[in-house]
Amino acid sequence: MKIETNTQHFTPPDMAHELARRTIQPLLSRGLLPCDIRVFDPACGNGNLLLAAEEYLAGESVNRGYDKEQHDTARRAPYDSLENARVNVALGSLYGGCEIDELVADAAQRRIEDSIQRRYEFDHVMCGDALFLAQSDFKDMFGPLLPNVILLNPPFIAGGRVSTLFGQAYRKKLKERFPARTREYEGTTVRFPGWGGRADIASCFLLLADEIVSGGDDGPPGPQAIGVIATNTIAQGDTREAGLMDLIFDRGWRVHSCSDDLKWPGRANVSVKMFVLTRHVRCENTDSLIDQSWLRIPRSRHF
Ligand SMILES: C[S@@+](CC[C@H](N)C(=O)[O-])C[C@H]1O[C@@H](n2cnc3c(N)ncnc32)[C@H](O)[C@@H]1O
Repeated sequence: MKIETNTQHFTPPDMAHELARRTIQPLLSRGLLPCDIRVFDPACGNGNLLLAAEEYLAGESVNRGYDKEQHDTARRAPYDSLENARVNVALGSLYGGCEIDELVADAAQRRIEDSIQRRYEFDHVMCGDALFLAQSDFKDMFGPLLPNVILLNPPFIAGGRVSTLFGQAYRKKLKERFPARTREYEGTTVRFPGWGGRADIASCFLLLADEIVSGGDDGPPGPQAIGVIATNTIAQGDTREAGLMDLIFDRGWRVHSCSDDLKWPGRANVSVKMFVLTRHVRCENTDSLIDQSWLRIPRSRHF
């Protein structure tokens, strides 16, 4: 797929670090250890969000007194059982991403390897269209423990432009991949539109984020978080209905925090927000932290 260059704006390191902190910290304060955190970025660019997560978790590990020697030894553990997967996770070794642009994907893989001085080969970055990955691809990458944190600064391509850029067949495939569905709630039928209409492709990445963390077969799911940097469009019109509303009303996600408008560096008129959705996490925030006018989500669904 040809990528529009204007979808390749990588997150600056300080913003990436802030998103990683905001997203992972609620899980750590819920009792998870840094070694329990498994991070995936389905549109990872050159790996800025993954590297920020690694840096944040490494810092947290050091604060908690993890023994480096122990980590280095464990890093060599074969990756073939749940137990060993846990050992490897203990090193903060499970950072994965997907990137559609081959050169950028290679750059991400190299940067991650350099950063964590990998002792054995591990493909951190899959190259391909994340929206058509199968659950088995994640299992191949992560083993029996699937990611529990998604970091996301998705590409934005307005619904109407998808067929212009990628063809009708791609649009049709995307509609089939994220179809409309209905659910019964207390006698009322509620329709979730899935992807289509004018919904931006960014909403597919939210649906995908939910799917990635939902597919584990390792018993009842623990706390999960999705941290997103996005322009206001994500909370507007068809894009909002297809993505955010679906996650919040039907898939059990709650808005844990949401930033004020942040200026996107280097682009005068672009502002973004960072927001974090969590699931299976008790929230301690107060409503005042959430900009309700932006997300327009009923108070009761915040946490
Ligand atoms: C806005 S950039 C963000 C990159 C990185 N997450 C960051 O925050 O720095 C979005 C990235 O998604 C990639 N991308 C676009 N469509 C994709 C798709 N369908 N599957 C995987 N990656 C995609 C683009 O090539 C680009 O590198």
